[in-house]
Amino acid sequence: MNILVLGGGGREHAIVTSLAASPDAGSIYVAPGNGGSAPGTVTVTLDNLDAAAVVSFAQKHDVGLVVIGPEAPLVAGVADAVRAAGIAAFGPGAAGAQLEGSKRFSKEFMERHALPTAAFGSFTNAAETLAYLERVGAPIVVKADGLAAGKGVTVAATLDEARAAIAECFDGRFGAAGATVVIEEFLTGPECSLLVFTDGTTTLPMAPAQDHKRAFEGDTGPNTGGMGVYSPVPIVTNEELADMQALMEKTVAALTSEHIDYRGVLYGGFMLTPAGPRLLEFNARFGDPETQVILPRLKTDLLEVMLAVANGSLADVQLEWDDAWAVSVVLASAGYPGDYAKGLPITGIDAAEALPGVTVYHAGTKRFDDGTLVTAGGRVLNVTALGSSFQEARALAYQATELIDFEGKQYRRDIGKRALGGRSAWER
Ligand code: AMP
Ligand code: GLY
Repeated sequence: MNILVLGGGGREHAIVTSLAASPDAGSIYVAPGNGGSAPGTVTVTLDNLDAAAVVSFAQKHDVGLVVIGPEAPLVAGVADAVRAAGIAAFGPGAAGAQLEGSKRFSKEFMERHALPTAAFGSFTNAAETLAYLERVGAPIVVKADGLAAGKGVTVAATLDEARAAIAECFDGRFGAAGATVVIEEFLTGPECSLLVFTDGTTTLPMAPAQDHKRAFEGDTGPNTGGMGVYSPVPIVTNEELADMQALMEKTVAALTSEHIDYRGVLYGGFMLTPAGPRLLEFNARFGDPETQVILPRLKTDLLEVMLAVANGSLADVQLEWDDAWAVSVVLASAGYPGDYAKGLPITGIDAAEALPGVTVYHAGTKRFDDGTLVTAGGRVLNVTALGSSFQEARALAYQATELIDFEGKQYRRDIGKRALGGRSAWER
């Protein structure tokens, strides 16, 4: 079967790597893809937000499954258009993608269905927002309602910081995404992501993962798309895991009760508070870089799983996982998440991948016809290692990381370090 994958990050490189291992995979088209490849993959140019263009490409190339990686095409309804054309789509339609596309929708949904989350208010003008802020005080979290590429959330320690963040939203920094603002109670604890596959009826959880959102060591600096990740998460208790799984099942049942046909990955972002797991957010897709530590551990054929999700037959599937631990370190361009240079030659990937258990997923890379590989984005590579213990996977990921080079290479040396200290490492 020919497959079309939309997206061009490390997440999509991990997805096509797993799909390419399926005996049933034919040509795998990736739009736009990156410098990474897998057997049978072809990168193509396509406007991922143009549903009609996606459908017509799929029809012309006899594509049997369209996999939608990033949030923007999901929110734009590309999955609806693909399904309406009679082609299987992995990813929710616009109605389900609202869980990620609008924080207000998502919080009101959680409230309607008694899903535990931070207390909140949502507003469409500065005066009401500021009045609410004065009532609740700081620390507090200010969020732009719509998609803002991970930049729309401010954890404000003081009222002044919160006021500045509110002003930014209503002054148009995030465009229409900031026209509604959500103000949230500040929660504390370790964060943990739990992703599930669902066809709207059956829910199959993946292993939990923990991302590192801040740019610099010690969880300092600006928020990024994610600087490193590991899975499973050693500090999560069995009770917390069971709670998170139950909440994800409850969410899927709640979607069905609202007649929302959700087929894809539902990503729950949790805070493990002293009172139990609380939902911070939903994403309507695979996480990036979470996918780069989850899929290498999946032993079940990913194509079979994705088709079952798309066709509503997930009840027939059982997921099998490798026992290994996975750690992934993000190599970023100097200056990321701010401005950075592009076009710098990358060396050492072959040597890194020669280490047993190491896979290097490409994110912001570009390969020229002569084979030269250069940097082309903020997050450049995801160096993933599998090991028989958390410590072993972590040591291997760093050993591999040091073999790769490009000018200005920047990475956090403390991915997973806090987890080594156990749960008390989160108590400040
Ligand atoms: P979100 O995109 O909503 O997950 O927010 C991005 C990041 O902001 C999260 O991963 C948390 O680190 C932080 N954050 C979001 N909401 C809260 C909250 N209510 N309390 C504390 N931190 C939060
Ligand atoms: N790594 C966080 C996300 O994918 O949203």
